Amino acid sequence: MSFLQAIQSSQQTIPETYRQLTREEMEQRVLEIKRELGTSLYIPGHHYQKDEVIQFADATGDSLKLAQLSAENKEAKHIVFCGVHFMAETADILTNNEQLVYLPDMRAGCSMADMANIYQTNRAWVKLQEMFGDTILPLTYVNSTAEIKAFVGKNGGATVTSSNAKKMLKWAFTQKERILFLPDQHLGRNTAYDLGVPLDEMAVWDPIQEELIFAGDIASVKVILWKGHCSVHENFTVQNVYQVRQQYPEMKIIVHPECRRELVELADENGSTNYIIETIAKAPKGSSWAIGTEMNLVNRLIQQHQDKHIISLNPHMCPCLTMNRIDLPHLLWSLESIVEGQPVNRIQVHEQTANDARLALERMLQRS
Ligand code: 13P
Ligand code: SF4
Repeated sequence: MSFLQAIQSSQQTIPETYRQLTREEMEQRVLEIKRELGTSLYIPGHHYQKDEVIQFADATGDSLKLAQLSAENKEAKHIVFCGVHFMAETADILTNNEQLVYLPDMRAGCSMADMANIYQTNRAWVKLQEMFGDTILPLTYVNSTAEIKAFVGKNGGATVTSSNAKKMLKWAFTQKERILFLPDQHLGRNTAYDLGVPLDEMAVWDPIQEELIFAGDIASVKVILWKGHCSVHENFTVQNVYQVRQQYPEMKIIVHPECRRELVELADENGSTNYIIETIAKAPKGSSWAIGTEMNLVNRLIQQHQDKHIISLNPHMCPCLTMNRIDLPHLLWSLESIVEGQPVNRIQVHEQTANDARLALERMLQRS
């Protein structure tokens, strides 16, 4: 289910009374509930979450780590996921039937995940099979709906995250001659290029026009990139790089591989959220960095490493708006609803979809 469908199917919105509470009151109540529920409550938080929320996370991580932790946790009955909709779906798929997963605000979707729906994907698959025969393995970034993961699982493919995309793409080429990479064309292109696939062997599938964008002999196509992108990471431009190089010639530039190819090429380093965090942590005192990723994380790194000069690669960058839907009032509302026995915003993936999607996720987890 896309997050738009999730909103439509859910009538649950936060009561106004939560808006009248002070930050201290809300923090106090969250702490009390955490103490009361103990290990029956688990709060995973993605690195892009706001500080007011991440301070209460039992574990923080990137998409891969949070998927691994969800698969490992057999203790918590209530999992209040502080991230976006596809991450909560993944947690539901990987946990057992007694464990209940909630998303504090159903509007916390991911615009990239919604760029590939199952109807578009089924239609694309038919057309691509007509063009290329049975030579294609689908891979999907975890930033996709459960239905897309299920499609991939049923067709022998796997999920990937930005931390393991290279490893998974390498594996995929041992299975089939061609790869369909959903839904982020940039992660797909950057990863395939790093593995030695030339740009002129990559085509783009446009799901709106239902056409393959490719100039040349289609027999040479190795990777078919779904025409999707992250609206946050696409906001970093080559002009940002030129400005930083001019203003701070010593500064290193590090970007997430959801950024466009031309930007990744100009940067000094690129890697997943986790790679960025580790690189900054290991960097020598006094070093300076321009980071091309989500702003809540960049601001946190600036706070945590005051001995280094850190800026956002784009000075006008905003946080991911859907990640920001999860705020302290919604976290508290979610927790109180659990304590009151009337939990709100449960994420429940349909059983058949979950079974097929699990195949794709497990193929990834076994290799990570
Ligand atoms: P990672 O957590 O895999 O780095 O992905 C970044 C992202 O955009 C999450 O929505
Ligand atoms: Fe989706 Fe991009 Fe936000 Fe991640 S940062 S949740 S990919 S829109």
